[in-house]
Amino acid sequence: MDFEAYQGERLDRIGSFLARLLPEKSNNLTTSDRLYDAIRYSVLNGGKRMRPLLVYATGEALGHALDLLDAPAAAVELIHCYSLIHDDLPAMDNDDLRRGKPTCHKAFDEATAILAGDAIQALAFEVLADPILNPLPPGQKIKMISLLAQKSGMQGMAGGQALDLAFEGNQSVVSLEHLRNIHLKKTGALIEAAVTLGALASEKEMGPSLIGELQKFARCIGLSFQIQDDILDIISTTEILGKSVGKDSAQQKATFPSRLGLETAKQYAITLHQEALETIGFLEDKDHHLERISALFINRLN
Ligand code: IPE
Ligand code: IPE
Ligand code: MG
Ligand code: MG
Ligand code: MG
Repeated sequence: MDFEAYQGERLDRIGSFLARLLPEKSNNLTTSDRLYDAIRYSVLNGGKRMRPLLVYATGEALGHALDLLDAPAAAVELIHCYSLIHDDLPAMDNDDLRRGKPTCHKAFDEATAILAGDAIQALAFEVLADPILNPLPPGQKIKMISLLAQKSGMQGMAGGQALDLAFEGNQSVVSLEHLRNIHLKKTGALIEAAVTLGALASEKEMGPSLIGELQKFARCIGLSFQIQDDILDIISTTEILGKSVGKDSAQQKATFPSRLGLETAKQYAITLHQEALETIGFLEDKDHHLERISALFINRLN
């Protein structure tokens, strides 16, 4: 199947899975309607679904059953959706637009946005623990839950977000090595979670060296993904991105283009793409889509 067709199919697949998880009317009468509306608003709203795509493409490259990849694909996307709601809050990046619509705290209110993020995060782990949605043996599920928790928490996305904020307005004191570390955590960690969960979603034992190589791949593309995000913040438009542009320089964020200039940052992203391809040369199934995903990460327009 060509890559565009594959991407379209997996996008539909994760879209229906998430929609089934969050049906129009909650059966649970104790759920606040407002909270539930904010959750659906923030999850079922046209994100690019790049992390689910990576879960599927990694798992399928290793020959895993597609049915076992839905739960981890949804779990990592849910963590991502929660991270975006909180990232947009006034206390963080203070953004009004996300995925072409008002941010969650604008469409609802701040308290609801904070709680929607909290609840979506919890739902991610509920999905991985669920015996029907994720029918893998308990030991395997614990590995997956633990991995996602680590990559979301203080050593991962949340830790990276804290560093991103700590250096706001202070970008000149951040070394390139430190900048790499911030990006690898705030964005790379969830990309790494996507690839690793895809590899772990099977009853077959995946050796630590295979997982290690895939994680190297994920770190390269996680970094290049954020570099492209920072480049697009400078060169794209609000209409194309569905989020406000020019925010990074206005908020004096430490980014690769602000530090290296646009051209050198772009070159660095290309180098990371090439490194990424080298790390997955060992994959036996040459029909996998990981190369195209890595290319998409640096060539995407939104
Ligand atoms: C935006 O991620 C936040 C970053 C980590 C750079 P995406 O560009 O994947 O956002 P959506 O999910 O498509 O909205
Ligand atoms: C966001 O980075 C990273 C996370 C949400 C974890 P950005 O702050 O650059 O993402 P956008 O540009 O708001 O999507
Ligand atoms: Mg941010
Ligand atoms: Mg932001
Ligand atoms: Mg950004």
